[in-house]
Amino acid sequence: MRDGQPGTPIRLADYQVPAYLVDEVLLDVDLFDEHTRVNATLHMRRHPQAPAGADCLLNGVGLTLDALMLEGEPLAQDAWQYDGEQLVLRGMPEVFTLTTRVTIEPQLNTALEGLYVSRGMFCTQCEAEGFRRITFFPDRPDVLSRFSTTVRADKARFPVLLSNGNPVARGEEGGRHWVTWEDPFPKPCYLFALVAGDLACLEDRYRTGSGREITLQLFAEERDLDKLDHAMASLKAAMAWDERTYGLEYDLDIYMIVAVSHFNMGAMENKGLNIFNTACVLAHPKTTTDAGFQRVEAVVAHEYFHNWSGNRVTCRDWFQLSLKEGFTVFRDQSFSADMNSVAVKRVEDVDMLRTVQFPEDQGPMAHPVRPAEYHKIDNFYTVTIYEKGAELVRMQHGLLGPERFRAGTDLYFSRFDGQAVTTDDFVDCMAEAGGIDLTQFRRWYSQAGTPRLEASDSVVEGEYRLTLRQSTPATPGQPDKLPLMIPVKLALLGTDGAALPLDDDGRTETVLVLTEAEQTFRFSVPGNQAPVPSLLRGFSAPVALDYDFSPAQLRFLLAHDSDGYCRWDAAQRLYHAAVKRLLSDPSGADAEAAALAPALEQVLSRAMTDPAEAALLLTLPGEVAIGDRLEVLEPDQVHAARSALQAALGRQLAQRWWQAEQACTTTGPYRPTAADIGRRSLRHRALGYLAAAADTQIASHLAALCRDADNMTDQLGALRLLVHYRLPGASQALADFAAQWHDEALVMDQWFAVQATVPGEQTLTQVRALLAHTDFDWRVPNRVRGLLGSFANANPTAFHAASGDGYRLYAEALARLDEVNPQIAARMAGACARLPRLPAARREALAAALRDLLSRSRSANLREMLERILASAG
Ligand code: BES
Ligand code: ZN
Repeated sequence: MRDGQPGTPIRLADYQVPAYLVDEVLLDVDLFDEHTRVNATLHMRRHPQAPAGADCLLNGVGLTLDALMLEGEPLAQDAWQYDGEQLVLRGMPEVFTLTTRVTIEPQLNTALEGLYVSRGMFCTQCEAEGFRRITFFPDRPDVLSRFSTTVRADKARFPVLLSNGNPVARGEEGGRHWVTWEDPFPKPCYLFALVAGDLACLEDRYRTGSGREITLQLFAEERDLDKLDHAMASLKAAMAWDERTYGLEYDLDIYMIVAVSHFNMGAMENKGLNIFNTACVLAHPKTTTDAGFQRVEAVVAHEYFHNWSGNRVTCRDWFQLSLKEGFTVFRDQSFSADMNSVAVKRVEDVDMLRTVQFPEDQGPMAHPVRPAEYHKIDNFYTVTIYEKGAELVRMQHGLLGPERFRAGTDLYFSRFDGQAVTTDDFVDCMAEAGGIDLTQFRRWYSQAGTPRLEASDSVVEGEYRLTLRQSTPATPGQPDKLPLMIPVKLALLGTDGAALPLDDDGRTETVLVLTEAEQTFRFSVPGNQAPVPSLLRGFSAPVALDYDFSPAQLRFLLAHDSDGYCRWDAAQRLYHAAVKRLLSDPSGADAEAAALAPALEQVLSRAMTDPAEAALLLTLPGEVAIGDRLEVLEPDQVHAARSALQAALGRQLAQRWWQAEQACTTTGPYRPTAADIGRRSLRHRALGYLAAAADTQIASHLAALCRDADNMTDQLGALRLLVHYRLPGASQALADFAAQWHDEALVMDQWFAVQATVPGEQTLTQVRALLAHTDFDWRVPNRVRGLLGSFANANPTAFHAASGDGYRLYAEALARLDEVNPQIAARMAGACARLPRLPAARREALAAALRDLLSRSRSANLREMLERILASAG
């Protein structure tokens, strides 16, 4: 398959098996400062289903070809052709051995794809199509090969040489040394990895249920060795959880994770040798926030879970990406829920889906969980593939129930072990094991867009009638939509707040499965009293629910619903409605706050039984989420309205906030337990309201917390409030913070982010100054995301400044970034996808900035994104 060029996408419908397979590959990688030599020996065999005489196609990008041999003899000139991207071999026999020798220059690789150098360490990133930048190979996931890899380098500077599988031989000669690794499991080349560096190692062991001893090794720079304990604990917990929950054991004798500072993504599941962004593996109380600790736990687990859902059973082609990513996200979500709190985790995941994936579905980037075509696969590692994909697996889990779902995954892993398969294969297993028909359900994979679910009800003669109507709005390339199978979990709450029995067995919860455009469901209810519907419990389907709740019903649900998601959703609906009313006139904030206060006080009064949940219930929707619910995005009005409400609630409940703040102050050493994290989260929520209200005590309180905190959660939380509310002491705190953490890159990323997210147009000046800061570095994705990503995604009043300066600044930055790292530039362009929803003047300003950027952008990655977004400009 060729790289997609503008205008000629790669299509799922065109899938063909590869003409040749690689049963075994021997790699020899010789690392030097100025170049790297890669020798590859490929044992190839014609695919049984490929037409006889088909050409043998190998990918190769940016490779200098030094030698090409068939069975050890140079290949005749007329038998091959290389155009810089693809090597075509003509007239190859059924079975043959091909040897290639190439030279590459990893030391110049700033795109961070293939083999590159990060702080003096060689490392690789091959998913999705990076392996072709290392050597010639059929770089597609349906070619599974056994790898044997020899890594050679200077012994003093690169004492650690790693690759996938088990080390089987080593040696040294004249200051250089080498290690050979063998991976017994056939794998696609996107799972290949190699590391060479001067690394410290935290080692531990894990004993599997069947009694095998696994060596666990986490590698990082020496200075970070004290930040690996949490990842190690998380890894062991994940290994045990997968045995308990899915009956899946680890399969090699050694599991390694390497932390690298330059990384495009969060982490990568290479077989036996995960490579992690430092941000997703290092954790220490002093430098890492609670959110950071939880992220490390989730990402370590996610990459570990891929060993089965992705590596042992892999994807046939990249259209099937959600097969491994959606399923693995569902698995890591379930793991985190079990480790912490099921209800809290569900709300966090739903919030993320609704605030990031729903907007993607409504904009120019909308695409199905299994896309039908793409240009650059890198641009399709999206929240739709990941988070919506996870929701599709979750719905199947819900439709089957836990036991039959487990039977389905058992069937899937046993039937397809060692194979490259499709999302259809996965659903087949679920349908078979569940004994249900999932024909209609499959539409969820091919149809883009967020379905809207309208609910209306009535009570007639002791019968409660609930009518559900579904419709999915048009998305680019998909004007007409079909009805989906939508599981709607439901309870009906009686006047006392208890759930009413819904059937003769007294069950109080049921799942309505909507399959038509419109259906009515009937329940007999006591008396003629209208119950309050608790709809879409647990967020049982990824839809936008439209039901005309009264404020009284929402307060009732918030107080009584036993479903955590529904309680939170009720609170969100109350907040959204209040902010919406304030958009045209923020002076009504006191009255709105007064109306909300009793419900908030009630939440606060029982907050200490579950502070984490209370914190979520007390969090107003963010400015971005509020803007996304409006017809036209009005960032300044949204900011004014939301800030006014937050400040009014801060003032009216000041005493309660201070009480919560006191009650939640944790004592003793920092621990990242769910209980302590919950208390800190509520504490900072309270501080946030007090800061918004400009409470007389708050500035000095925050300054002290920022100065004296023994952990990063408190320190950074205090700093952010000081800076965002421009409180006295803010500049000093920023300067002190930088002085204290100057040598900790991950902390400094946050320092950049705090400043980039101060609301208001003035921040543009600050962002420009920070781009010129000596510690800003275009080559470090974490730093670029910290400054520019948080500016564009989390600071609407600055990014969308009426002058259009925010857009011009951002476009200039993306042009610069595109020269260094096209993948990151393209991902960050996604922040501009709200273009069609902007008011006219802003829309024109953004479109002009993006057209200018498009004319200058070099990469196909960035151009694909810009073209899609500009096509929506109208
Ligand atoms: N396989 C991906 C990493 C990846 C994505 C590599 C795209 C190359 C291109 C990995 O399993 C992953 O999904 N990582 C996530 C974190 C995870 C917890 C969702 C990431 O990197 O953000
Ligand atoms: Zn993944």
